[in-house]
Amino acid sequence: MTDNENLRTPIVCVMGHVDHGKTTLLDRIRGSSVAAGEAGAITQHIGATEVMIDSIIERSGASGMKNNFIVPGLLFIDTPGHHAFTSLRSRGGALADLAVVIVDINEGFMPQTKESLQILKRFKTPFVVVANKIDRIHGWQPHENASFLETYNKQSERVRADLDNKFYEIVGELYNSGFNSERYDRVSDFQRNIGIIPISAVTGEGIPDLLMVLLGLAQKFLESNLHYNASGPGEGTILEVKEEKGLGTTIDIILYDGTLKKGDTIIVGSLGEPIQTKVRALLKPNPMGEISAEEKFQNVESVTAAIGVKISAPNLDDALSGATVRAANPENLETIVKEVQEEL
Ligand code: GTP
Ligand code: MG
Repeated sequence: MTDNENLRTPIVCVMGHVDHGKTTLLDRIRGSSVAAGEAGAITQHIGATEVMIDSIIERSGASGMKNNFIVPGLLFIDTPGHHAFTSLRSRGGALADLAVVIVDINEGFMPQTKESLQILKRFKTPFVVVANKIDRIHGWQPHENASFLETYNKQSERVRADLDNKFYEIVGELYNSGFNSERYDRVSDFQRNIGIIPISAVTGEGIPDLLMVLLGLAQKFLESNLHYNASGPGEGTILEVKEEKGLGTTIDIILYDGTLKKGDTIIVGSLGEPIQTKVRALLKPNPMGEISAEEKFQNVESVTAAIGVKISAPNLDDALSGATVRAANPENLETIVKEVQEEL
């Protein structure tokens, strides 16, 4: 497989208990690359962060391996809560290709950690676990953005022992939930064993390792699922319905299949009859504008999966978060209206 034209970006959901660091992890992945002068390599889409392959390779210290990778990057989705994630999953079908379950290493498993694992088990989604907040271990000496093993080997014996103890509690909890797991660098078969990566979302330690493991998983297990019809009709899931100054009601979606174009007729799920409308504008957040309170968007002609994008169109007031959006043409319009409604 050398032709990556038809491989879409894998969608990676970050899940876990409240306050265990999901958003901080994504901020870190996004922020440090921009800070490293990678403007454009990382784009913050709506509710989603796209990390391009070059940036991942560079940051994971695996340069020279570039040609071995066939996915264009990774599209991270921050899950705001368990409920929202469930509805996204059931409506979007295979919306998440991979998942990261985040556990605060000092707090261990919590109710939403277990719920996340149940969801992943049900959908048979490949995942890795990150043991976050290692910098909070008493006596920890941080090494910004270092790989886990590098920073681990520089810690005192006591700190390492403390980390190991906490780490094996997570291994035990995973076992109780029905998963065999091991530290990621000791896993030889990621299909049989869940890899656990100790990280700090605040110092960036372990994040290069996480990105590399995810890329490896994507390459190994998802290749067959990532072929798609780039020229096919756009299909996505609504993340949020939002009022925007000057635009009225807009929808933020994850496009997980095909291409969506300005002017396309779209069928949008709502509590009542699906809405039939036309795409007036496709808006990608400007990567340079993301820090400002007043976000600026790039108005684009078309977008191709997988990507996060804001749609401006008439009559979106009743659009429903979690519902499906699909492009339609006069021939298949009725079928698509029916299918969008049935998916609710
Ligand atoms: P919800 O969205 O509410 O489910 O929480 P979340 O999982 O997104 O957690 P969030 O990223 O908001 O982090 C919660 C708190 O933990 C914040 O105060 C973070 O600064 C802190 N935090 C997250 N990761 C780390 C870490 O690696 N080290 C330290 N010291 N603090 C962290
Ligand atoms: Mg959060």
